[in-house]
Amino acid sequence: MPCYSPHVSATGSPRNPDTPRHTALVRVTHWITVLAFFALLLSGLEILISHPRFYWGETGNVMTTPLFTLHIPSSRDMVPTGYGFVMPDQNGWSRYLHFQAAWLLVLTGLVYAIYILWTGHLRQNLLPAPADRSWRASRAVITKYLRREPPAPSEAHSYNVLQRIAYLGVLFVLFPLVIWTGLALSPSFDSAVPFAVNILGGRQSARTLHFFVTDALVLFLIVHVAMVILSGFRTRMRAMITGRTTASPATAPAAIASPSIASQERA
Ligand code: HEM
Repeated sequence: MPCYSPHVSATGSPRNPDTPRHTALVRVTHWITVLAFFALLLSGLEILISHPRFYWGETGNVMTTPLFTLHIPSSRDMVPTGYGFVMPDQNGWSRYLHFQAAWLLVLTGLVYAIYILWTGHLRQNLLPAPADRSWRASRAVITKYLRREPPAPSEAHSYNVLQRIAYLGVLFVLFPLVIWTGLALSPSFDSAVPFAVNILGGRQSARTLHFFVTDALVLFLIVHVAMVILSGFRTRMRAMITGRTTASPATAPAAIASPSIASQERA
């Protein structure tokens, strides 16, 4: 299902202004991912407060020394927290929601992964162009963000190098890691593929790593939304929701001609 033709520039943006900037599949999978991610965060937080202590190795409980403790109240009265009260226990629905949202995320991610490989979206729009693969290129973009300079018209049709690095990091490092460490917490996965749990250092190590990878995903989310705001929140959100961009047909050819957007040169 090739969707990137010489008539479609980076991120599906309009060489023909009627062409949506983001294809329907990218938009739908993006928003399902966001929904699943927030469901995972909320339910994960509920699961976390049932035992806000972290360990390393195979086992860990209130009788063993934790690696570190989060100084928050717990929903279980046997967990020592220093607080004189116990939070309401919401573990039942939280665990169901966590597993369901995780599978939704995995399946959506698979559809998206097949799509970006099959259509060339990964190569054309997400991999940084060779000319942009340097610290200098990234620093130039950071400086532009810090100076609050408005994005160049060409940027309305493509991702800059920082966005591309962030997307690749989240797609190929953080999501695979969070799924792996999450699966490692399942007793059935542990008994079926013990090796995948052992190389993480055991079930408790997997839980600790799952927590840190989640933190990294939250950091990505904050930076990602900040970049969307700095690039023009309304325009970017409109494009990601409806596919429409406000770029006038007059600016589109200039964007395509821009030598700084190597992916457009290749498109
Ligand atoms: C964990 C949650 C999120 C993940 C993993 C994520 C991931 C991504 C990825 C991979 C892309 C590039 C899509 C492509 O072209 O194939 C993207 C684009 C985008 N995302 Fe997200 N996103 C998340 C949350 C959000 C949220 C909460 C918002 C809005 C508040 C948002 C708004 C956007 C917008 C507007 C774009 C297009 C950026 C542009 O045109 O410059 N995302 N996101």
